[in-house]
Amino acid sequence: MMAELPEFMRRLDAIAGGFQRSKILFTALKGGVFTLLENPMTAAEVAARLGWDERGTRMLLNGLIALDLADKDNQGRYRNAPIASACLIPGAPMDQTAILNHKANGWEAWAHLDELVRTGKPYPRGDRNDEQVRAFICGMKNIAVESANAMVEAVDIAACRNMLDLGGGPGVYSHACLRKVPALRATVFDLPEVIPIATEEASAAGLLDRMHFVAGDLTKDPLGTGYDLVLVSNIIHSYGPEMNQLLIKKCHQALIPGGMLIIKDFLLDDDQKGPAFGLVFALHMFVHTDEGDTYAVETVRKWTLEAGFSDGKLVELTPQTRMWIVRK
Ligand SMILES: C[S@@+](CC[C@H](N)C(=O)[O-])C[C@H]1O[C@@H](n2cnc3c(N)ncnc32)[C@H](O)[C@@H]1O
Repeated sequence: MMAELPEFMRRLDAIAGGFQRSKILFTALKGGVFTLLENPMTAAEVAARLGWDERGTRMLLNGLIALDLADKDNQGRYRNAPIASACLIPGAPMDQTAILNHKANGWEAWAHLDELVRTGKPYPRGDRNDEQVRAFICGMKNIAVESANAMVEAVDIAACRNMLDLGGGPGVYSHACLRKVPALRATVFDLPEVIPIATEEASAAGLLDRMHFVAGDLTKDPLGTGYDLVLVSNIIHSYGPEMNQLLIKKCHQALIPGGMLIIKDFLLDDDQKGPAFGLVFALHMFVHTDEGDTYAVETVRKWTLEAGFSDGKLVELTPQTRMWIVRK
C-alpha cells in the first residue's frame, strides 16, 4: 500500500492544483500574453507592454513554462511553445481561444460549487454581455470543427435535402453537411442574439445562399415542418427530462416520414460511470442551469421511442461525444 503513496500523492496534487493551472492559462489568455509571445520577450518587456507588475508577470510566464505552454532562452526571453502558437492566438490554425475564454467565464460559478451543491440552485446568471455571447458561440465553433467533419463521415445524409440545425449556434455542423451534400439546404434555429453570428459564419464559409436563419426559442416556439434531417447537437444537456421529451416530440412533428433525427451530446454509458468528460460536464450544467444534466444513451433511447421514432443506432464521434440516430 505504502509503495503506492507517492503515486497517489501525485494524482491528488494534479487534481487539487487544477484550479491553479487553469488560472495561469486564463490570465495569460485574457491578458493577450500569447499574442505577445509570438516574438521573444523578457518578463520586463511583457510587463511594460501590458502595464502589469514585473514580478507577477515573471512568475506568470514561468507558470506558462511549467504548463509547457512557453519556453525561455538563455537571455531570459520567453516564447510560445508550439501548442500556444497553434491554439492560443485568435485566428491561429487551431484557434481554441473562444472556447477557453468561455470556460474562463465559468470560473465565478464554479467557485461557488460547494454552496450550489448544498442548495441545488444554479449560480445566478446575469444578462450575458456581447463578449460572453460571442465567446460561447465562437467557442462552439472551435470545438465543432473536428467533430463536424467526423459527423458527416459517420452518418449517411446523402439523400437529405432540407435540414434543421436546432440551436445550431455558429452553424458549423450545417456547414459540414452542406459541403458534403450539394443539394442540401439548412436552417439554423437559435436565439435572436445568436443569429447575427450564425449569419456572419455562413457568409465567411461561402454558404449564405443555401442557409436560412430562424430567431426563436426552442422551448416555446414551433420548429417548422417538412424537414428530412433534424440535428440536435449539444442541446439536451441544457434541459431536464421533461423539456427534452417535449423537444424530441417537436422534432418528430418537424420531420417528414422517414426523416432522420440526430441527437448528439456527451451521452453517458448506461451505468453512468463514464465517459469522464460527460460526468464532469454534468456539473458544468448544474452550476449554470436549473435542470441541465448529461444523459445515458438508454434514457435518450427511451425518449425517442416514446416520441414515436424507430429504434436507433449509437455512433461514437469522439471519446466524449456520441450520436443517437433515429428515424420517423
Ligand atoms: C452548446 S450550444 C450548441 C451549438 C451547436 N448546436 C453545436 O453543437 O455546436 C447550444 C446552442 O443552443 C442555443 N440555445 C440555447 N437555448 C436556446 C433556446 N431556448 N432557443 C433556441 N436556441 C437556444 C444557444 O444559443 C447555442 O447556440
